[in-house]
Amino acid sequence: MNMRTQVGIVGAGPAGLLLAHLLDRCGIESIALEDRGREHIENRVRAGVLEQGTVDTLDEAGVGERMRRQGLVHHGIELSFNGRRHRLNLRELTGGRAITVYGQQEVIKDLINARLDAGGQIFFEVEETSVHDLDTDAPKIRFRKNGEAHEITCDFIGGCDGSHGICRSSIPAGVLNVFERAYPFGWLGILAQSKPPSEELIYCNHPRGFALFSMRSPEITRLYIQCEPDEEIANWPDDRIWQELELRLGVDESIRLEEGTILQKGVTPMRSFVVEPMQFGRLFLAGDAAHIVPPTGAKGLNLAASDVHYAAEALTGFFKRQDNDAIPAYSDKALARVWKSERFSWSLTMLMHRFPDDGAIAARFQEAELDYLMHSEAGLRSIAENYVGLPLDFAEDRPAGARLHAMQAGAGR
Ligand code: APR
Ligand code: PHB
Repeated sequence: MNMRTQVGIVGAGPAGLLLAHLLDRCGIESIALEDRGREHIENRVRAGVLEQGTVDTLDEAGVGERMRRQGLVHHGIELSFNGRRHRLNLRELTGGRAITVYGQQEVIKDLINARLDAGGQIFFEVEETSVHDLDTDAPKIRFRKNGEAHEITCDFIGGCDGSHGICRSSIPAGVLNVFERAYPFGWLGILAQSKPPSEELIYCNHPRGFALFSMRSPEITRLYIQCEPDEEIANWPDDRIWQELELRLGVDESIRLEEGTILQKGVTPMRSFVVEPMQFGRLFLAGDAAHIVPPTGAKGLNLAASDVHYAAEALTGFFKRQDNDAIPAYSDKALARVWKSERFSWSLTMLMHRFPDDGAIAARFQEAELDYLMHSEAGLRSIAENYVGLPLDFAEDRPAGARLHAMQAGAGR
């Protein structure tokens, strides 16, 4: 079967679904293809911290209603060193901005519902997806569904198919510059039926390694433990998990770690990865297809959201204002923000983890850095404004003083 659409989207993760939705709001049609089933992607547990700008984008796109009701708005986070906790007051440091704790799979459910309610087309469980004629005005996507072959002729293709997708690897050799760093550890992620130890997230640097105490609701905790990059889950029976978390958190009378049923465990390797440029001909890459961050700081989903914001802006310029400069501007605009989040995720990773074979001096450097950050107004603001997320127009030419003034007036985005 042959179909036609303005924007063919490969991948129905946060990037693909939000792109489809933002385009629809601007009167641009799309078809999204996803190789997994709907149930699978609606239940895949990933990160769960939304920056202020992501919340605003979801709200403005009309998909923020349940997030507003069920998301947990946090005005602070804690950094713990050797069991001593230091609070960052995000609200005070950023002129009133906050983060919202709301699971990625909940965002996915909201976006799928909104797409289907609006009559949007998503094909789940497609096979053998491939992209063609990327450097022409009529790029094509081919795929199979229930054994039948299909082709979609598009004006543009959104490559939103994550880090293992086919879009990035369909760009001819020599076009992309690849920047990559692997870290010598992973995160063991745990979802547990238990009350979170604190109302706010706690990032812990401990001689035994990093740990993170997050949550999904007042009854569900999301926990992470620094482990080997290729760790076997079998090495982590439940008892060991609770014992290790307690040690790394440094439980005292002000805080109590409640043990509960462990619902899920998984290991995530950690890497920083970016390709430049994020487009080739009429193919846009967005989200994990173009870049990976280590999860410290929870920037992955937020970068997917800002990429597609810029992509939708570029496509709207092309289709609605006949602006021929809009399309080539996408990659530079998206990358300017990507690199700042990559830098922040790398630096928080370096500050909070124990690196094997780094010796005692590395821990002293970390302690000195934390001590500096916690006692410097500039240091605190720098972590806080990056953590809540830089405004979408941050990279545009605007003196820092003017931006600060706008943020303090509560008008920054
Ligand atoms: N054809 C169709 N769909 C595909 C293909 C393919 N060949 N390959 C991959 N996909 C789908 C995957 O099944 C997945 O649902 O593309 C989707 C990509 O979604 P994500 O991996 O969630 O990536 P993205 O939308 O960029 O979101 C980034 O998600 O992975 C997390 O931590 C990451 O939070 C970040 C965010
Ligand atoms: C999460 O809740 O899953 C989470 C929170 C903060 C991070 C990473 C993941 O930095």
